[in-house]
Amino acid sequence: MTGSAIELQVDGTAVAVPGGASLLVAVRAAGIELPALCSDDRLSPAGSCRTCLVRADGQIAAACVTPATSGVRVDTATDDLWQLRREAVTVIVSALPPRALADDSPSELAQVCRTLGIGSEVAQVAGGRGGDVSHPYVHLDRDLCIACGRCVRMCAEVQGTFALTLVGRGSGTVVAPGTGGPWAESDCVACGGCVDTCPTGAITQPGPGSGLTSAHRPAAATRTTCGYCGVGCTLDVATRDGEVTAVLPARDGPVNQGHACVKGRFAHGYLTSPERLTRPLLRRDGRLEPVGWDEALDRVARGMGEATAVGGADAVAAISSARATNEENYLVQKFMRVVIGTNNVDNCSRLCHSPSAAGLTASFGLPCGTDSFDDVERSDCLLVVGANPVEAHPVVGARLLRRVLHGAKLVVADPRAVGLAQHADVHLRPRPGTNAALFHGLAHILLTHGLTDEKFLRERATGLPELTELLDDYPPDRVADITGVPAADLVAAARLYGRAEQPAIVYGLGVTEHLHGTDGVRTLANLAILRGAVGTDRGYGVNPLRGQNNVQGASDMGALPDCLPGYGKVTDPAVRARAEAVWGVPVPERPGLRIPEMFAAARAGRLRALWVIGEDVCATDPDTNRVAEALDACPLVVCNELFLSETARHADVVLPATSWLEKDGTFVNFDRRFQRVRSAVPPPGEARSDFDAVHAVAAAMGVSLGCPTPADALAECGRIAPVFAGLSHDRLDREGAVPWPCPDPRRPGAVRLYENRFATPDGRAHLAVVPYLPPGEHPDDAYPLVLVTGRRWAHYNSGSMTRRSGNLALDPVDFLDLHPEDAIRYDVRDGAQVDVESRHGTARLIARISEQTVPGQVFCSFHFPASGVNRLTSDHADTVTSCPEYKVTAVRLTPR
Ligand code: FES
Repeated sequence: MTGSAIELQVDGTAVAVPGGASLLVAVRAAGIELPALCSDDRLSPAGSCRTCLVRADGQIAAACVTPATSGVRVDTATDDLWQLRREAVTVIVSALPPRALADDSPSELAQVCRTLGIGSEVAQVAGGRGGDVSHPYVHLDRDLCIACGRCVRMCAEVQGTFALTLVGRGSGTVVAPGTGGPWAESDCVACGGCVDTCPTGAITQPGPGSGLTSAHRPAAATRTTCGYCGVGCTLDVATRDGEVTAVLPARDGPVNQGHACVKGRFAHGYLTSPERLTRPLLRRDGRLEPVGWDEALDRVARGMGEATAVGGADAVAAISSARATNEENYLVQKFMRVVIGTNNVDNCSRLCHSPSAAGLTASFGLPCGTDSFDDVERSDCLLVVGANPVEAHPVVGARLLRRVLHGAKLVVADPRAVGLAQHADVHLRPRPGTNAALFHGLAHILLTHGLTDEKFLRERATGLPELTELLDDYPPDRVADITGVPAADLVAAARLYGRAEQPAIVYGLGVTEHLHGTDGVRTLANLAILRGAVGTDRGYGVNPLRGQNNVQGASDMGALPDCLPGYGKVTDPAVRARAEAVWGVPVPERPGLRIPEMFAAARAGRLRALWVIGEDVCATDPDTNRVAEALDACPLVVCNELFLSETARHADVVLPATSWLEKDGTFVNFDRRFQRVRSAVPPPGEARSDFDAVHAVAAAMGVSLGCPTPADALAECGRIAPVFAGLSHDRLDREGAVPWPCPDPRRPGAVRLYENRFATPDGRAHLAVVPYLPPGEHPDDAYPLVLVTGRRWAHYNSGSMTRRSGNLALDPVDFLDLHPEDAIRYDVRDGAQVDVESRHGTARLIARISEQTVPGQVFCSFHFPASGVNRLTSDHADTVTSCPEYKVTAVRLTPR
């Protein structure tokens, strides 16, 4: 809906609606409900069911497809209109079996019939068209389908998957997967959109939540923020008897807008898995045995005390969690600094987006994306780099695709044919590890084709002369040699980005997880600076897609070895003084250990106690054999976990933790929005939140950490970090989502950054003048292929939650994708077991022959620790931040 407001009359009441709105919107604005069985606010109107009839200036019209015009008089309540609508619904119902209107049916159709006084005697068809229950999350009852097409449009217009179609004729028309076979074998990605929009109950999720939709959610549903990826979808959680029955996408969710993905929507079966840890475990005689909390806490407190007695405060370290809440991360870093007296605290952004934090800070001043996703979505040219949002961030992937289908240009830069690539105007496929050369090549073309913003560069940026000189070395032909991307494609991509009115960059771990990942981020940011497309109204900047739900927040809260909450450096006396004034103790000034340094210190005997909170480092960190060696060498390893993970198996004490559906706090999503997390169900057994566990360990060591509730913790954080001072649980409860920086409780948070000045010391954007440097791993005769790792659509990280849900049926193993030419060359058959060997370890995977990868490259996920994928990856790491080089590993294949 666009344009200025339109004023009209509905049943004598004046209403105003935005230009482009339909009469149905106007009628609802007047507080009047009409049946509208083929309509959904999230979809384009179809106008096919004729149930929404009104009279507009005397003419009968279908309200959903009739635009509102100024001054029109709309009548909805006359007897003849009521009768027309009743007849339209009666015709629809007469083609259905009586169970369509069962007394307890929560469907939209059943509710409309109750309103219109249509009883189940009207529904007389015997049915018998059968169903499809092949899919774990989506069941089809063909007898209840009224062919309204809402599911088909949802799948196409909102999800962008185009998996559904209508088949048959006349009253025999029914929805079906476009592939023709069972639903489970279709292209469906189980976003749940069809389930959510179906007005009749023809498409439902099985189980106790069957029939619930976002439009008809139980009043008692708990509103929370998804704990899977960093998109930050707002979800309403319906429960019964302390168990989740359905997770429904909130229509007013600021990021998801009534949409969700297979993980947030359906993958909650892990909550009640019999494998959930419900009691603390203590290692005795080499075995982990259940004990009470007091005994476990005593062991942790004694172990940490012994470690500091032997090796000082720096003999203790903690790995905090991007899956935990902000308040939990705040408390973990406070515990380490206040109780232990060390800065040895880090979080798993070290393994994913630490180069984003370092690179974006160097270029612009703050360690975060520059614009809101709502703005990015307005871009006329999207440059999506090293990211596969269709699978890893499905709701964002769907929104990006929607924008492209509505006309935005799309440049995808990724070695693989990721989901968005098939819709791209240009798909650049650089060799893994050559990003900086690629970005320099694009920058060279922007400069030589006069596609830069000279005024912006003169007034708001530094480094242009030096960069111009450096870029002389990166003409398209040379960059083509380095990256493998044809020079003509480079020119085409640069022209699209360079000529767009409002270009936007979105990127993922394909940029950061490299030996020179920070250089990759900075040279990518150069493109936005050259175009003046950051901090201005001429573009939407540079925006990292965060992998885990609270990667941004974990670092924001100071769970970093060199930063206090709000990113003040521990080496800065003024920053320390602010924290000391709140905490009442000195803050250590020496930066602590990063995660890889913690493991090295443990292997060397310097680290004597390690607390790992919610991370399966033995599955997800690189070169996992060496990680396990580190844990085994450390005298005390404490692990907070939902399940007995690979890491927990190496621990001395395992504390049973709560999941995101069982705890209270906040997350920060990928575009800096603080959002509330609320407990929907009680934790199992004796499981405790990480917040409570940290408090309990501190108490066992004789220290009170203060801030007894998560709300208190966020408030205290705001006293240390001015950028969060305007945030509180109360405010988030009122407003829903608030982005940071937000220094003032009476003013909104900053949606777009740097409109007046950049946050660098000189207020300018800094062009990065760094040469391209090759990756750490190279294929050779012994290891001729390059392995890239990443996520699949049905799973999340180590898979500890998604593997214990129905998602396992959708994607049961880690596959190795390889090109048909390589399959022939290495004698690998589709579906065969194959040993994958690197210079660091061996994994066993199932081969899948696919043209998603190019010859010479293979791809696999790391969702099944048993496959051992991260035994393959090296300990090469970003030279600035120590982020592992996950995206380049030389391997060879041996079929079994
Ligand atoms: Fe208007 Fe179906 S809702 S015609």
